[in-house]
Amino acid sequence: MNVNSCMFLLLMWTSYACASKIHHNARVTVKNEGISRFAFENSNNIFIKLLSASNITWVVINERLYYIDTTQDFRPKPVNVNLCRNDLTCAARVSVLTEGANGNLLFLCGTTDEEKTMCCSLNSTFSLTNCFDFEHYKPDINEPSLLVGDMLYFTLSEKGLYRINKNKERNIWPPSTQTEQKYLKLIAGEGQHKDKMYSFFAEKHKNKEDESDQWIPRVSQNCMNDKGGPKGQLQSSWTSMIYARLECGKRDFTQLIDVATIKTTHDTKIYALFRNYWNMSAVCVYNMTEISTIFNSSQFNANNVPVSHRPGTCVVDSTQLNGEVLTFMKERPEMKQTVKPENGPLIFRHHHYSHIQVDRVQDSTVLLLSLESGGVHKVLERPVQEPVFVIAEYLPFPHGSSIASMILHTSENLLYASSGNELIQIDLATCGVYGNECVECRLSRDPYCKWDGLQCTIAEKTAQDTNNCDKPPYDAPSRTITGANVPVISVQPSSKYFLVCPVISHHATYHWYHSGTLEECASTDEGCIYLIESMNKTHEGSYRCEYTENGITKTVSYYELSMSLSNGFIPILIPHALLLLTAFHILL
Ligand SMILES: *[C@@H]1O[C@H](CO)[C@@H](O)[C@H](O)[C@H]1NC(C)=O
Ligand SMILES: *[C@@H]1O[C@H](CO)[C@@H](O)[C@H](O)[C@H]1NC(C)=O
Ligand SMILES: *[C@@H]1O[C@H](CO)[C@@H](O)[C@H](O)[C@H]1NC(C)=O
Ligand SMILES: *[C@@H]1O[C@H](CO)[C@@H](O)[C@H](O)[C@H]1NC(C)=O
Ligand SMILES: *[C@@H]1O[C@H](CO)[C@@H](O)[C@H](O)[C@H]1NC(C)=O
Ligand SMILES: *[C@@H]1O[C@H](CO)[C@@H](O)[C@H](O)[C@H]1NC(C)=O
Repeated sequence: MNVNSCMFLLLMWTSYACASKIHHNARVTVKNEGISRFAFENSNNIFIKLLSASNITWVVINERLYYIDTTQDFRPKPVNVNLCRNDLTCAARVSVLTEGANGNLLFLCGTTDEEKTMCCSLNSTFSLTNCFDFEHYKPDINEPSLLVGDMLYFTLSEKGLYRINKNKERNIWPPSTQTEQKYLKLIAGEGQHKDKMYSFFAEKHKNKEDESDQWIPRVSQNCMNDKGGPKGQLQSSWTSMIYARLECGKRDFTQLIDVATIKTTHDTKIYALFRNYWNMSAVCVYNMTEISTIFNSSQFNANNVPVSHRPGTCVVDSTQLNGEVLTFMKERPEMKQTVKPENGPLIFRHHHYSHIQVDRVQDSTVLLLSLESGGVHKVLERPVQEPVFVIAEYLPFPHGSSIASMILHTSENLLYASSGNELIQIDLATCGVYGNECVECRLSRDPYCKWDGLQCTIAEKTAQDTNNCDKPPYDAPSRTITGANVPVISVQPSSKYFLVCPVISHHATYHWYHSGTLEECASTDEGCIYLIESMNKTHEGSYRCEYTENGITKTVSYYELSMSLSNGFIPILIPHALLLLTAFHILL
């Protein structure tokens, strides 16, 4: 401890303020525990794209494909793929990376500088199969893509949704649009809608009245068997694409930032991350049943709606659609009814998020949200009328790093995130960070964790564990702190000294009690500190640090201080393993 840090502690001491009762901040901060970092050669400004498919995490780093199989080893292993058809020396960048179909692990494309693209499946023995190539339009790895059967769907922002396959006759591309669009997710329909495709995107429209740019969040639906129109009328273009507007909050959350989905037993839920003009974040939850019902039954926000055929309905041969319908489809028909969230938005006034992933754990929904400062929040979804609960803040990157992509490997409880030069992995079931007692495990409210009688440990993902600390398995009795075998610390007269009480929860209030009198403590990164500026007789006696959270009060640290008699005596810290505390001494 040097003089500067002493000054810092003194400043903290005087500026200490009580925590407010509503907690916007994460309860626990995690900087290292459960976080693994992957190092790469030439790791400056590397491009990383992540995909979790077939229980393997795939990573494109710069131009190369790697995979991480956590059941074997943590190191990303390169996959040798040559995405050049005849010319083995061409330099093809990976331009599409998506889940494989028909038992293949992966589907990927490579595009050369000459704008030639080759796409292949990667089969289970890591060989490229079913390759085909095309020219004239080049996919972008940052855009969403989806393989359904042998049809590749991909988007190009500014343009729209494309469909290509080996049989070029069935290729479809979007009509040219003048608006700026940002595509975020493609979802194939299910059940009675499995013949349809849904695209989630943000569209910027210039508001002519106030000249300000405004975003409109949208979802579109099209038929997968769409063949385009006849010659001259929407030929090789969508004839079934219809649009609806997503609503989140009172129309002020309009900028759609990211979309994640989870499957429930009868439905797919869409978790959409929004931002408003003031950069506040909100998450709105939609379901596919509601979205497809709106497309099937809402009125159109247009005049001259064809009566012979409901626009957007799938037909066997779209080239046979009549001219009235095709003319109507050219106008990008929008539904009158907007898609409303299941509940109100979950609003995060104090944090700016950039990516979302969702996991279902023990009947709870956990949101993983990346912060613009480079952190990741693990958030428990709660009824909208209750304040949002941030279980933990992970700080895997240096402050100010921007997270470029984030992907959840749900069967392994692992979250991968990449910045401009690093790839990290967070083990979401690192339960030791919450403390060593049953109540601490319970207060964490982390559905990935449960108390097993000895420690806070990984919970079964689908089980229902209740951390009831009043009945077995509860705290082992040896963990309860008693006045016996308390460490006695000798401190030199007139010397400076401080005691540290480790702070786990930022939602708890911590206090020191000195011989029964409550003493405020100074909060620092190290914990809650009790500072003695100059040791004298009145500082002798017992010191106990206690936290209070959610009506639970617990002693964390216990010390006994005495003043040493001889001047040259160097104080010895007597560690007390069960108390889990650290104390530093300062010799002035
Ligand atoms: C992934 O792993 C989980 C559990 O290990 C298993 O239930 C699931 O079927 C696997 N999925 C695939 C696509 O292999
Ligand atoms: C994968 O493709 C390669 C090359 O076409 C082939 O030799 C191999 O048998 C395939 N593996 C499987 C599991 O189909
Ligand atoms: C919102 O964030 C953007 C980019 O981070 C910034 O340019 C803009 O000024 C912010 N707007 C407000 C109202 O703070
Ligand atoms: C669409 O709505 C019609 C009635 O308006 C109904 O007969 C049909 O079953 C619905 N289709 C789907 C796929 O929901
Ligand atoms: C789907 O969303 C609608 C509208 O938000 C809601 O009324 C309905 O209850 C939701 N369905 C399910 C299964 O949650
Ligand atoms: C001991 O120090 C405290 C301040 O830390 C001071 O208020 C008190 O007067 C001192 N007592 C004696 C006996 O010097």
